[in-house]
Amino acid sequence: MAQESKTGKPPLWQLANQHGMGFGTAINAHAISNDEYRAIVERECDVVVAENAMKFGPLRPQRETWNWEPADRLADFARKNNKRMRGHTLVWHAMNPKWLLEGDFERQEVIDIMREHIFKTVERYKDVIYCWDVVNEAVERTDSSMYHDTYWNKKIGPEHISMAHRYAHEADPKCKLIHNDWVHEGEGWDSDKLCRFVQELQDDNVPVHGVGLQYHFGITEPPVMEKLLNTYDRFASLGLEVHITELDVFIDYPVTDEKLEQQAILYKNVAKAAASHKAVTEFLVWGHTDASHHYQRDKTRGDACLWDEDYNPKPAYYAVADAWS
Ligand code: G3I
Repeated sequence: MAQESKTGKPPLWQLANQHGMGFGTAINAHAISNDEYRAIVERECDVVVAENAMKFGPLRPQRETWNWEPADRLADFARKNNKRMRGHTLVWHAMNPKWLLEGDFERQEVIDIMREHIFKTVERYKDVIYCWDVVNEAVERTDSSMYHDTYWNKKIGPEHISMAHRYAHEADPKCKLIHNDWVHEGEGWDSDKLCRFVQELQDDNVPVHGVGLQYHFGITEPPVMEKLLNTYDRFASLGLEVHITELDVFIDYPVTDEKLEQQAILYKNVAKAAASHKAVTEFLVWGHTDASHHYQRDKTRGDACLWDEDYNPKPAYYAVADAWS
């Protein structure tokens, strides 16, 4: 059944645009072949991001082998459907290939590998990707240290972050460079360190144009709404765009109508907060259907999306549409 008859609402991207935001989702190179999965993206989204296909390991599984096909397929989907595309992500602690992690490379070799990866990837997609998450989750979230102690940080040092931004800017000077990170926005959490991290980049004249706030929430760990607005104010005061990049709201099993309603309320509150602030220019969910969402591998929690596993809109979908209507 066509999506129009399933929702009875205008596409979410049209509603989001009324508040100065795009709306989109992470797309999966396998699931995109499903007609119903694809139909929702085609109707509801004006921006997409590759869930995994454009990460370092999937793109370069062996040192001599680049695997462009899945990423090319998603980029072609964006081109053919006139969607903006976010790039995710050039440098990260996860999904790096074994040849790199076990290669026992010297510091300069790792710098050269990182530089080559960034130039090849940014240049390949610069016609369709308008912004890149450069060094994903570079801020340490578990202790007082500033930098996430990743492979890249260990091998190169914290300067890998400014290097990566400068390489990406050199590869495509038009591309917006985003620092994308995990935020909690709950009790006891604040955005101080994330703000200091970005300010350090700015003080060092490192090209950075925006901040991506991932927003992986759960109905048992709701954000404090005032914190969201305060965070937007802080980054706006630094002259940065704010992208909501990976919103999902997991439910601890078993799923009940009450929990689905709690999920809808959380989605609605976040959608309203984002729409209320002019610094927020993108609003993406990290997967739109429970049929193929990364939480679905978790046996204790999931069902985090706006559409269910049968591609039907959930209360959370209507809550977001109402928040923007
Ligand atoms: O492709 C292999 C498959 O061949 C193999 O059989 C299977 C079982 O081992 O693994 C498959 O790879 C998995 C991949 O997703 C593709 O499905 C990896 O194991 C799995 O770790 C990977 O998870 C992804 C995760 O990032 C990696 O840490 C999730 O799909 C993806 O949604 C998630 O996305 C991240 C963002 O990039 C950054 N922010 C957090 C967000 C959620 O973790």
